[in-house]
Amino acid sequence: MTGAEIIARCRILAGFSETPGAITRTFLCPAMRDVHHALRSWMEEAGMTVSLDGAGNLRGVYAASTPNAARLLIGSHVDTVPNAGAYDGVLGVVWGIAVVGALAGRRLPFAIEVIAFSEEEGVRFGVPFIGSRFVNGTLGPELLARTDIDGVSVAEALRHFGVQPGPCDVAQYLAYLECHIEQGPVLDALGLPLGVVTAIVGQTRAEVRFLGAANHAGTTPMRMRRDALAAAGRWIACVERFARATPGAVATVGSIHACPGAGNVIAGEAVATLDLRHADDEARHALTATLRLAAEAIATSRDLTLEWNTRMDQAAVACDPALTEMLAHSVESTGHQVYRLASGAGHDAMITATMMPVAMLFVRSPGGISHHPDESVRASDVEAALAAGLAFLGELEGRYA
Ligand code: GLV
Ligand code: MN
Ligand code: MN
Repeated sequence: MTGAEIIARCRILAGFSETPGAITRTFLCPAMRDVHHALRSWMEEAGMTVSLDGAGNLRGVYAASTPNAARLLIGSHVDTVPNAGAYDGVLGVVWGIAVVGALAGRRLPFAIEVIAFSEEEGVRFGVPFIGSRFVNGTLGPELLARTDIDGVSVAEALRHFGVQPGPCDVAQYLAYLECHIEQGPVLDALGLPLGVVTAIVGQTRAEVRFLGAANHAGTTPMRMRRDALAAAGRWIACVERFARATPGAVATVGSIHACPGAGNVIAGEAVATLDLRHADDEARHALTATLRLAAEAIATSRDLTLEWNTRMDQAAVACDPALTEMLAHSVESTGHQVYRLASGAGHDAMITATMMPVAMLFVRSPGGISHHPDESVRASDVEAALAAGLAFLGELEGRYA
């Protein structure tokens, strides 16, 4: 396939959305069935046997030249953030299918499995990586019982989609490879089409709830209020200030919800999200603790109570050095400069890394734009990624020779 054909497939999948006129696809929404339908036909066309697993991940297996050979797992996710672009996650899956398709039936000493993870973004249940957690065995009872905004649990969503949660056999995998758009400006600024990922930064996610008292906006004097939204606002300013003062940190309050949510009522409750990342886990934990203390101090000074619910504490993950060198060599062998960089975005590779060696290839993001409808990729960059992927298979094949 050409780069343009891979992009065209990503754009077809972008047409399957839960919101008209925008790309939004959360865990197992109805549009996911259309995505699976298209992916299944492309996987089958490339010679793969397709199945749906116990977490709603679609898997295509391309058999090896010998039975019972180990498998290379290639994957990424097909869920999206609200009002997303067409390539975050999806490109890695479509690219994986194209890599297998380019073998044109030639068998390798290892099998290849392309996996389309059902959930990576954490939008519907507030917890990311549901798809890949199935693979590393951490999709346990607590996560299965988590509910979305409508009170539907992960387990119910799975059953409704027609899958039963069950075990996953990981013993068969030899390594995991993920191709993803960079989602940042580094490669674009350097004028490079590809990057080789060395590590993925750690993440903290939390839900921070300020509880005060709702009251009349016109009759309650300023000094007699217990305004939860005003407290949350002060804290959000602290988040930005402290994160700016911490080298290497990024912290975001991307969502805030106020109750009861009327212009003439003082908010009795405000719930803010926190997303905090750092390559150094100690620095991330220290900043998280500081921000929690700040939230508690703000709440106490205004006679409010604070609830801090940690939703995720994901350690930074290093890619496998040997596999990463193999990927770097593959990039070099196709005539491209090797540029190594850490990923500020989270990826399924963080989770599969607990079970097998992982390597990640980045494709330049023009303008560094992602989690936005203007997210794009260049056809020539995607073609370079395809060539690097095939070179990687060649390197791996050489190991078996
Ligand atoms: C996933 O896209 C993330 O938030 O890093
Ligand atoms: Mn994303
Ligand atoms: Mn992604």
